[in-house]
Amino acid sequence: MAHELPQAEVGIFGGSGFYELFEGECEEVLLDTVYGRPSDVYTIGTIGGRRVAFLPRHGRNHSIGPAEVNYRANVYGMKLLGVDKIIGPCSVGSLRLDIHPGDFVICDQFVDRTKDRPDTYFTHDRTLAVQHLSSAEPYCAEMGRIAAQCCRDLGITVHEGGTVVTIQGPRFSTKAESEWFHAMGWDVVNMTQYPECWLARELGIHYCNVSLVTDYDAGCGEHAPVTWEMVQETFAANIEHVRALVGAMVPALPSAIDDGCTGAAGLVE
Ligand code: ADE
Repeated sequence: MAHELPQAEVGIFGGSGFYELFEGECEEVLLDTVYGRPSDVYTIGTIGGRRVAFLPRHGRNHSIGPAEVNYRANVYGMKLLGVDKIIGPCSVGSLRLDIHPGDFVICDQFVDRTKDRPDTYFTHDRTLAVQHLSSAEPYCAEMGRIAAQCCRDLGITVHEGGTVVTIQGPRFSTKAESEWFHAMGWDVVNMTQYPECWLARELGIHYCNVSLVTDYDAGCGEHAPVTWEMVQETFAANIEHVRALVGAMVPALPSAIDDGCTGAAGLVE
């Protein structure tokens, strides 16, 4: 099946408030995978001469909640399209007074606080044999460096490195949970980084997070607790930064990255 599909090199997942990428010509690809249907059609276009596949992880109408997203199908679809590098923009709440709405954080660690999300391709009913991979460094360091440099070049405030704690959602955290996350030394909180980034690693796809801070979570310091409206408004106010960053990053990525982001040995079709 894969050889008949249009191919792309870089994959981009759109998050809350980021549902379309290409303004010019692009091709739509509807995929079904052995893991089920991805969130929407993939659109494939070109940025700086590089072939890019885009998928809004919540669907283009934001009809799929963070716990209902079929992350395995979404990432597997990227693999079928030939993608070997993924940029994963998302909105996050800040757990620290020195990380502000509008800032970007290029996360390099995650903490998983989700429940019952299918988070591996290594299951007995598929042909991928069980493997126990290291998740010590789950993100692609080389892509992270490029993301941070592109932010600086664009004049965007960026925190290079950080830990995102991914909660199950769809509710936001209580004050007690938020204070606990802060006390643990974690930097930002979101609902979708896990298992998306990890599944990419299992398939040997380099994955880079681009977190846009939209709020101070349950009210870090004296700030007002997050609301969905706040997330949408702050994301909308900064969407051009997200687009500019993606537009700068894609042409800056090397075609091959040799930094140990190797995943599973074989793949099911
Ligand atoms: N996404 C954006 N802000 C968030 C928050 N405070 N908690 C969880 N996910 C978020």
